[in-house]
Amino acid sequence: MPKNITKEKFKTYHSVFDEFTNRTIFKLITEGHFEGLIGPVSMGKEANVFQAKKGNDKVIVKIYRLENADFTNMYNYIKSDPRFMDIKKNRRKVIFAWCQREYRNLLKAREANVKVPTPYTFKNNILVMEFIGNKEAAPKLKDSLPKNPSKFFKDLMSNYKKLYKKAKLIHGDFSQFNVLNHNESPVLIDLSGATSLEDPNCKEYFERDISVITKFFIKLKLNINMDKIIKTIKN
Ligand SMILES: Nc1ncnc2c1ncn2[C@@H]1O[C@H](COP(=O)(O)OP(=O)(O)OP(=O)(O)O)[C@@H](O)[C@H]1O
Ligand SMILES: [Mg+2]
Repeated sequence: MPKNITKEKFKTYHSVFDEFTNRTIFKLITEGHFEGLIGPVSMGKEANVFQAKKGNDKVIVKIYRLENADFTNMYNYIKSDPRFMDIKKNRRKVIFAWCQREYRNLLKAREANVKVPTPYTFKNNILVMEFIGNKEAAPKLKDSLPKNPSKFFKDLMSNYKKLYKKAKLIHGDFSQFNVLNHNESPVLIDLSGATSLEDPNCKEYFERDISVITKFFIKLKLNINMDKIIKTIKN
C-alpha cells in the first residue's frame, strides 16, 4: 500500500463492502488511482458514490453494488446495446458490463465535448472519475434550481445534442436527478444506461429523456415544446 494511506480511513468503510469489492478498492489504491475514501456522496439503489483523496485533489469513486442491485433490470437495458450483445445473464458479468459501459460512454461523451465527469479508470464494479464540485460535490439540478432556467436549459440541450450527434448516444436516464448544477452550468452524470443510436430501443429512450427534462423545465415556467426540442437535437 502507498505511504501515508489511509489504512485507517479505509478501515472505516471496510465493513460496508463485500470482500470482492474491498479487494478491488485495494487494487485501485495500489495502482495509484486514489489514496483512500474520504466520505460518501450518495448511497443509491444501484451504486454507492464516494469522494476519495488523490494528492491535493479529489476523485469520485462509484461502486456498483454486487448485492441487491436490480440486475435483471440492468440486463434488460444492456442486452439491446449492440456493444454488449453477447452478454450472459450472469449477475456479476452484467454489473461489471454496466460499470464498463458507463466508463466507455463517459469517454465517448467527453470526446464529443459533452460536459460530463472525465472517467479515469474502472475495474470490476468500480468506476473512478472526475470530482464535480467546489468544496462539496455539486448539487443535483432538482436540488439547486438554476438562476436563469432558460440559459441553463439551452446549455443542457446543446450538450444533449452533442451527445446525440457526435457521440451517437442517448442518455437513457436523463432527468433533474442526473444533471448536476455546477456553478450554474449543467454537467451530465450517470451514463451507465446510455446506449448507442443503433439500439433498437433508442427512439423510445430518447423521447422519454426529452419528455422528462422538458416537463421539469415547463414547471420552471419555460415555454418549450418537446417536438421542437427533438427536431433541434436531431438536425
Ligand atoms: N462525478 C461526480 N461528481 C460529483 N458528484 C457525483 C459525481 N457522480 C455522482 N455524483 C453524485 O452521486 C449521486 C449518484 O450518482 P449516479 O447518479 O451516477 O448513481 P446512480 O446509479 O443514480 O445511483 P442511484 O440511482 O442508485 O443512487 C449523484 O446524484 C451525485 O449527487
Ligand atoms: Mg443517478
